[in-house]
Amino acid sequence: MTEPATARVDSLEGDPPLLRVEGLEVEFSTSAGVLRALDGVSFEVRAGETLAILGESGSGKSVTAQAVMALLPQPAGSIVGGRIWYGGRDIAAEPVKQVRKLCATEIAMIFQDPLSSLNPVFRVGDQVAEPFRRRRGMDKRQALGKALELLKRVGIPNAETRIRDYPHQFSGGQRQRIMIAMAIALKPRLLIADEPTTALDVTVQAQIMDLLADLQAETGMGLILISHDLGVVADVAQRAAIMYAGRVVETGSIREIYDHPAHPYPKGLLESIPSEGARGQRLTPISGSPPNLLAVPSGCPFHPRCEFAIDVCRTDVPMLRRPEGWEAGHEAACHRSEEVL
Ligand SMILES: Nc1ncnc2c1ncn2[C@@H]1O[C@H](COP(=O)(O)OP(=O)(O)OP(=O)(O)O)[C@@H](O)[C@H]1O
Ligand code: SF4
Ligand SMILES: [Mg+2]
Repeated sequence: MTEPATARVDSLEGDPPLLRVEGLEVEFSTSAGVLRALDGVSFEVRAGETLAILGESGSGKSVTAQAVMALLPQPAGSIVGGRIWYGGRDIAAEPVKQVRKLCATEIAMIFQDPLSSLNPVFRVGDQVAEPFRRRRGMDKRQALGKALELLKRVGIPNAETRIRDYPHQFSGGQRQRIMIAMAIALKPRLLIADEPTTALDVTVQAQIMDLLADLQAETGMGLILISHDLGVVADVAQRAAIMYAGRVVETGSIREIYDHPAHPYPKGLLESIPSEGARGQRLTPISGSPPNLLAVPSGCPFHPRCEFAIDVCRTDVPMLRRPEGWEAGHEAACHRSEEVL
């Protein structure tokens, strides 16, 4: 394990962000109309830091990752507002081809479903070796040597022989390790892991989280960890952005949000976590359902489910803000955060 997640927050605060997303808006054209999947999403992540993006199904976590990586389904999905700052460039304004080229070497992603991301008809060794051949110009023998090193590093037992096996011959946890090997092959500066442990049992989830944390400590990469599960990310992330209906409703250090949630939605999620055995639980605790994004409620989109709602919540959209006295970086989008706290 690496040092406790909260210990590193202060030392990271002075660094400029590796990625800064500002007011990102994404829409999909569907047969039922225009669906606004992201409505002003903002967050940042620094080198060496882990940011958890949390929220219920449909809140916009994967769409956020797809927008950053220029992987929105075309032509239905498009960025209609906001900026994505990376290395001094606004990559939201750049052509898709150019952003994908950048991502191929600097920003890597681990997808929600490892089986669908690995090609079933190619040997695992060849798939892990592929970036070294394509991007680093290595010959087959050199690239396989690199693949072997990586498979050992991510903890595949008997990697020397298993390098010749096919994806279906590995367990779910091992396939996720292989995906991690492929993602870190070219030493990305930023890794986005979209629900990397959802399909795995609790023990394997913890092992994969530890592996990601160790790799991050070794390489200094920034890590965005997308999850439903507040328990799983608590030990490895320093900061969190909690999403609801395509917006970030609360952001700040994990320690501060978990101890002093200032928005009723994260507060409800946290109160529903059993004190022990939180890992592996999907978040279904607050009564009511997430809104239909084709007909988002007026004002605060959470108001139909909110026990704190008052008249202004039905008419005025709350913006992220940091009331006086809150820890630096702790913001919530709620008219009544002071009372919620
Ligand atoms: N290709 C698409 N066409 C139309 N709508 C889409 C498309 N992809 C995503 N959406 C919509 O965008 C919203 C956000 O989806 P997203 O996949 O980001 O959710 P998520 O937070 O990752 O959920 P989950 O936890 O289930 O993975 C959803 O309402 C979804 O229906
Ligand atoms: S703005 Fe109002 S409805 Fe929205 S979370 Fe805060 S109290 Fe609840
Ligand atoms: Mg998703």
